[in-house]
Order: sequence, then C-alpha cells, then structure tokens
Amino acid sequence: MNYRHAYHAGNFADVVKHAALALVLEHLAAKDKPFAVLDTHAGIGRYDLAALEAEKTGEYRDGILKVLDRPHAALAPYLRVVATLNAGRPSPRIYPGSPELIARLTRPQDRIQLVELHPEDAAALAEAYGDDTRVAVYGEDGYTALRALLPPQPRRGLVLIDPPFEVADEFARLARGLRQAHRRFATGIYMLWYPIKARAPVAAFHAELAQGDISRIVVAELLLRPDDDPEGLNGCGLVIVNPPWRFAETMTELLGWLRSRLAPERGSRVRVEMLVPE
Ligand SMILES: C[S@@+](CC[C@H](N)C(=O)[O-])C[C@H]1O[C@@H](n2cnc3c(N)ncnc32)[C@H](O)[C@@H]1O
Repeated sequence: MNYRHAYHAGNFADVVKHAALALVLEHLAAKDKPFAVLDTHAGIGRYDLAALEAEKTGEYRDGILKVLDRPHAALAPYLRVVATLNAGRPSPRIYPGSPELIARLTRPQDRIQLVELHPEDAAALAEAYGDDTRVAVYGEDGYTALRALLPPQPRRGLVLIDPPFEVADEFARLARGLRQAHRRFATGIYMLWYPIKARAPVAAFHAELAQGDISRIVVAELLLRPDDDPEGLNGCGLVIVNPPWRFAETMTELLGWLRSRLAPERGSRVRVEMLVPE
C-alpha cells in the first residue's frame, strides 16, 4: 500500500470527484428523510496543501486553485465547504477530502461510515471524526466492508468507491464490488471513481457494467489529453448508479466548464453518457 492521497489532494481528479460528490449529497439532503453514506476508501479526511507532500507534486495548483475565480454554479456546495475550512485565508490551505465533504454536507439525522485500510490513515480518520456521533470508522478492506455494511441503516443514501488503483485488477474488483453491493442495496446511489490512462481497460470496464443487470448507470469523464497519451494519468471518470434527476445534464455543463479551466489543451474532452438506461 504505497498510495498516499496527500500528494494528490485538490488535483483535477479531486475537483471532478468532489464536485460531483457534493452535488449528490446536496440532492440527498434536499429531503428531510435521513440518509446514510458509506465511503469505502476514505483517506484521512482533510489535507494541508502547504504540507511537504502536496507541495512536492504541486498538483493542487492545477486543480482547486484554478476553479475559485467566478466558479460555475454547480460547484457551489463543494466550494462552500472549501470556503468554510479556509475562512480568513486569501487562498485555500486546508482541502476537504471525501470524509470532510460528507461530514459537512450531511445533517444530524444522517449516518456516515468511513472505511480505510491503511492503519495510519484509519487512525487519522478516527482522530478527526471520533467525536462526531454520526460517524463510524472501520480500518479494513473497502470491498469487504461493502459486503458487511450494506444495506445501510437508514436504507437510503450513497456509496462512494474511490480506490487507489495500485493493483492490476482494480477495474475488475470495482465491477465485482458494485455488483455485490447492488444486490444488497439496489436503491442506493453509487459513485465509483476511475483513472483514465488508456481507453482499452476503461472500455472493458464499461462493457462489463453494461452487460450486468444494474440499470440507470451514467458515466462522466474529463480527459486532459487524448486517452492513450503516454503521459500517464490522462483523465478521470465517474460511474454513477441511480443518479439524481438531471445529473447527466448538470455534469455535462459542469465538466465542460471544468475543461475550460483545467484542461484547455488541444485533445482534451468531456464525455457524459447514459451507459445503461432505466
Ligand atoms: C484515492 S484515495 C481516497 C481519497 C478519498 N476518497 C477522498 O476523496 O478524499 C484511496 C485510499 O484508499 C486507501 N486504500 C487502499 N487500499 C484499500 C482497501 N483495500 N480498502 C480500503 N482502503 C484502501 C488508501 O490508503 C487511500 O487512502
């Protein structure tokens, strides 16, 4: 387990994922009914952009720092959390990971389950959120947790699966994990994140999802470069199952705007499609 999110916090991929996450949380919170959120690969929750790790890559400079000026309206719930964490600072220093966004965009009646396998990160999570009585932290494998913790109580909510893609078969694990989770909690909203380094593994992943029996699947991608560029991380995508109403339209607009800020190079692209309809 070498992956440490502190090096990548606030980068373009975080902006895409966290903006979408905040929109889904805002949608769930629009009704008084309580909901539950399960974050299977939670990280540590909050990141210091002035720390050595973030400064070493500087990725946040091409991410969060580029979307603060006259932001798109759909970024509002996400940027509200960034602003709250950085009140009084001219530029953000503390960046919210998924647990922080979840904790801040839920209400007292909601429930939060955070899973993180790395022992140090799990301890940091327990330290950061231990006093929040809505939160339970599990230091275990995220895919095992999917089987153990679903369906959630209350039986309404979101499952975020955001693995580090350190192992060769992560796409297969993701597809299998979603299938198993969906059998236990078919009405939940699922958000899965994936990197785009080449098209073939992504196409195979999409084909596997499309052949299964889960319906209402949207995919939303932002490509910084053509998807087979040898550069490495050429873009990222989200799979959303049971998306909120008009989510695909909102993501098309939002990713178009993010592309203009984060990926102005030739060859960049946005792709939003209904992979499996109703
Ligand atoms: C991409 S980061 C998560 C970022 C976080 N979701 C966010 O948006 O702020 C992936 C995390 O998964 C953790 N991890 C790696 N393998 C795992 C596993 N099998 N189960 C749970 N967590 C795992 C890593 O330690 C890392 O913190």
